[in-house]
Amino acid sequence: MSERPEMFQGVDELWMDGEFVDFDDAQIHVLTHGLHYGSGVFEGVRCYDTVDGPAIFRWEEHLERFYESGKPYDLEIPFEPEELTEATVELIRREELESCYIRPIAFYGYDSLGVSPGDCPTKVAIGAWPWGAYLGEDALENGVDVMVSSWRKHASSQIPTNMKTTGLYVNSMLATEEAKGNGYTEAIVLNKEGNVAEGPGENIFLVRDGEIYTPGLAESILDGITRRTAIELAEDLGYTVHDEATISRGELYTADELFFTGTAAEVTPIRSVDDNVIGEGTKGPVTDEIQSQFFDLVEGRLDGYDDWFTYV
Ligand SMILES: Cc1ncc(COP(=O)(O)O)c(C=O)c1O
Repeated sequence: MSERPEMFQGVDELWMDGEFVDFDDAQIHVLTHGLHYGSGVFEGVRCYDTVDGPAIFRWEEHLERFYESGKPYDLEIPFEPEELTEATVELIRREELESCYIRPIAFYGYDSLGVSPGDCPTKVAIGAWPWGAYLGEDALENGVDVMVSSWRKHASSQIPTNMKTTGLYVNSMLATEEAKGNGYTEAIVLNKEGNVAEGPGENIFLVRDGEIYTPGLAESILDGITRRTAIELAEDLGYTVHDEATISRGELYTADELFFTGTAAEVTPIRSVDDNVIGEGTKGPVTDEIQSQFFDLVEGRLDGYDDWFTYV
């Protein structure tokens, strides 16, 4: 067995198809349908070390999206939501994690290898491990430099873009690699119409004249759970949020502020797009307010949001 990648050092077990298995035993066959055709769905969820102990943030919504993502592919997850909740909570306890990233995945397994999944079984696994700031601690404070990708998002007339299907992420990978190869931290991906869609793994928000704009669900975006959270927090803070906006590429350059949201990226300011400095080139005041509110929320310091936490 080759040496364990740094990310997974310290992980003892995963949950797979109904039982806890040793990390090294969580294996699948190389002729697995999901590997060849991207026929899987997944979630990215975070558990935070809140003032009341470890708690999974908006688990119910992630679970709902997990089941829904399988729908167009007839991928039926052979476990009840309660079973997956119990498995996840138990996994976090067994791994003795206080805060972590959680990755549930379901995919067509090993049987025949025609494109039609036929009798391929649905495999389900859940992993949990510590994962800090996705774009780096510095990114949360000082923002990221991004480029508009030359790759477009899939149109939702070609493939459902509002679901977290594994195969979709080769598009995200192309955009990310292009950005990194050109010296940027992250990409912004336009949709087929040439309007702003989202990041490879983030939704995007724009601030102009004190109001907040984010592309609508028909713009080929994922219905991000952090996006929903940011909209609600911003409205509670008194901001007007246009959550069905169509944003042109040019509007990015003249924005007062831009920020990404996502389970992994949390609330990350964008300080430049295609080398055009956004605002003052630092975390803007609106982004700062929403970001602090977000961390107060997920770390359990805001009252009234108890329904959004599943305590471990
Ligand atoms: C393409 C894409 N858009 C947006 C998001 C943000 O979604 P969420 O806030 O639910 O993590 C993600 C991350 O899962 C993503 O992969």
